[in-house]
Amino acid sequence: MSILAIDAGTTGVTAVVVSDRGEIVAKGYQEFAQHFPRSGWVEHAPEEIWQATLEATREVLGKIDPTSLTAVGITNQRETVVLWDRETLGSPRRAIVWQDRRTADICSRLRDAGHEKRVTELTGLRLDPYFSGTKLTWLKENEPHTWALVEAGRYAVGTVDSYLIARMTRGTWHVTDVSNASRTLLFDLEAGDWSDELCDLFGVPGDALPQVVPSWGEIAITDPRSFADLSLPIAGIAGDQQSALFGQTCFDEGDSKCTYGTGSFILTNTGSNVVRNDAGLLATAAWRSPEGELTYALEGAIFVTGAAVQWLRDGLQIVGSAAETAAIAATVRDTDGVVFVPALTGLGAPHWDPHARGLIIGLSRGTTRAHLVRATLEAIAFEVRDVLETMPEVASLKVDGGAAANDLLCQVQADQVGLPVERPRIVETTALGAAFLAGLGTGAWSSTEQLRETWALDRRFDPVGDRGAADAAYSRWKDAVERSKGWASD
Ligand code: G3P
Repeated sequence: MSILAIDAGTTGVTAVVVSDRGEIVAKGYQEFAQHFPRSGWVEHAPEEIWQATLEATREVLGKIDPTSLTAVGITNQRETVVLWDRETLGSPRRAIVWQDRRTADICSRLRDAGHEKRVTELTGLRLDPYFSGTKLTWLKENEPHTWALVEAGRYAVGTVDSYLIARMTRGTWHVTDVSNASRTLLFDLEAGDWSDELCDLFGVPGDALPQVVPSWGEIAITDPRSFADLSLPIAGIAGDQQSALFGQTCFDEGDSKCTYGTGSFILTNTGSNVVRNDAGLLATAAWRSPEGELTYALEGAIFVTGAAVQWLRDGLQIVGSAAETAAIAATVRDTDGVVFVPALTGLGAPHWDPHARGLIIGLSRGTTRAHLVRATLEAIAFEVRDVLETMPEVASLKVDGGAAANDLLCQVQADQVGLPVERPRIVETTALGAAFLAGLGTGAWSSTEQLRETWALDRRFDPVGDRGAADAAYSRWKDAVERSKGWASD
């Protein structure tokens, strides 16, 4: 008995098979293209996400006995908006990605009109281009022909989970879960449902949105004609960060995790309470049980961490792979005064400046690529510290995601936040969380207690070294962050 989990992330799709002992027994991965039609704009072709999903799935199926599979769990990059034709399942345009900054002006307009307080009250979020709502407003205002077909009911609107489920089921299901819905700016967090008031404000017809279903339980059935010959219940859905919270078995109030992916996201489980925070954190839904019980989280969303390493590889081309950054950074003792603020798509928590842009400062004739690589890893740790300084009562930090495998980063992270950093044996916690949800939804596991027993520590990094030096480096970072703000005028 095993579970297939699909993790449709920002840069690629991972498919894993998880055994009933909670171990990842096989994996497939397929990257897809990033489209940057203008400065600050980021798009994905939905068809490319779907093809990457099929490719990753076929790869993993080739490594296991497909008849052992009992359910599918889906987890995904959040906030990205996808449109598709309910009949053909083709998309009339590319998806607008969570990193896209094109709606900064719409956000300012709504803020100037006095809407932010009410939006925050209802959603736990803020008016920032990051979230889905203003991306839909932008489509309505800028692509009226496409939008007319949304209003006519021909095009469906959704996040990546909804889109993939529509593709896997040949259009039979149009669903999402609370963790994804709560990132749209259209969802009433306390009521646990779409808000007519917010749909009116952002100009989105409620009928175009998916039905909000529980995060686990039998939700839909895959159609073998579309999805790799598999007819399986889709039994778990969660946005990737909430999925990682689940995969790290952060089931109790106060449990926290930090996932290093394209961006980094620190979430603390706040139980059945919506905890509001004025220092730049978001209140969000974590999951909803089939019995209707809602669990919430407090979140610090950092937009660019792993993406900065990807930029070193693909943009600057000064490293061959993310994996070699630890060794390159370790060839120098420090950054020799270089600070890199990777505000490549603006700044998220706790700064929230869509006009900020990346900055590298402190260069000298002696600067080498090793200094810059080290400054990039340090930037990730500083960004996480920025969030943790505003997050109440975190006693230790459970880390996961690709970059958690980087020992140097984990150590710098512990030194910066002054807390133990705990790395589990499995760092692909996002996919694991989706498998846990689907397994819980189909009886592979009977309780969260049973899931908790599968968590195992790989290594704990305790803070070492000079606290004064760590704080001095952090204060230079804060200075550089201020300099990066307000740079882009669009
Ligand atoms: O909110 C954006 C987040 O869901 C993207 O996650 O893993 O692709 O960095 P990731």
